[in-house]
Amino acid sequence: MGDVTDVEDADEITFADPARGTYAKLVVRDDRLAGAIMLGDNPAVGAVVQMFDRGARVPPDVRSLLLGRVPAGTTAAEPNPALMPDAAVVCRCNTVPKSAIVAGFRAGDGTVAAIAARTRATTGCGSCHDAVASILRSLSRSEEVTA
Ligand code: FES
Repeated sequence: MGDVTDVEDADEITFADPARGTYAKLVVRDDRLAGAIMLGDNPAVGAVVQMFDRGARVPPDVRSLLLGRVPAGTTAAEPNPALMPDAAVVCRCNTVPKSAIVAGFRAGDGTVAAIAARTRATTGCGSCHDAVASILRSLSRSEEVTA
């Protein structure tokens, strides 16, 4: 994703583990991801994609992402649903935007399983599960406030 070839004025961080068949490269400019390559099984790929999509700051220990760990307190680990635009793609595996999750909630789907049945969000790699749950919690709270 992004531009992984223009590394001028950027930090380029790579990690390869041939024994596990993984390779990761992050290009960081101004504390944000300008590009990334994530090959093989890396549990942090969902967080990296979300950081890139949202222009979020990378964690202070960016190397942890290469190793498959999402540091606590990382913006992408706990997305703020209130700040996500409706068109933001929450589930990349199934191209499900936030607006589809909001529509499902308003149609009575109050659980991640119900949203999955309606939209297929979370049914691929599963890395979007926390984001979907967070959006549902946020919607539930806003419904309580207005009720
Ligand atoms: S991003 Fe993979 S299942 Fe949603």
